[in-house]
Amino acid sequence: MSFYEEKILPHIIDRACSLGQVMKLRSQLVPLAKGCVLEVGMGSGINLEFYNPEAVDMIYGLEPSEGMRRKAQANLRRSPIRVEWLDLPGEQVPLEGNSVDTVLLTFTLCTIPDWSAALLQMKRVLKPGGQAPVPGARRVPP
Ligand SMILES: C[S@@+](CC[C@H](N)C(=O)[O-])C[C@H]1O[C@@H](n2cnc3c(N)ncnc32)[C@H](O)[C@@H]1O
Repeated sequence: MSFYEEKILPHIIDRACSLGQVMKLRSQLVPLAKGCVLEVGMGSGINLEFYNPEAVDMIYGLEPSEGMRRKAQANLRRSPIRVEWLDLPGEQVPLEGNSVDTVLLTFTLCTIPDWSAALLQMKRVLKPGGQAPVPGARRVPP
């Protein structure tokens, strides 16, 4: 990773991803998460303030960039929910199959080079009956 990617880009992404409309979307989506959560591309942890600590047991924060993980430290300290970092890309989720209740990703899929492989990994680790909430989406009746 270059100096720019590790030291400068995390601050730019953090600012750009904290704008009003973006935060509004987060506030609608993130509280739907429950149980054991995998957040893919956790970035600087902006979503942490929107998780419901009553509903979420813990979060696996998958984030390949060391600079982003460093930028997230302040948000992690403020959060009552335990976060365990996974310092790998979304194409390589190091969790057992059927092991998480919620997969969450916000503004990340477009940055993952092999996004279809990453989606397959998310499907693999999501428990049957688990959820991957999408803002505004309605549940299709069985
Ligand atoms: C635009 S940022 C969004 C960050 C965060 N999800 C948010 O909503 O603020 C995209 C994030 O995806 C991460 N990323 C890049 N390549 C990735 C990959 N292959 N797998 C998972 N995350 C990746 C970046 O490091 C960055 O933190």
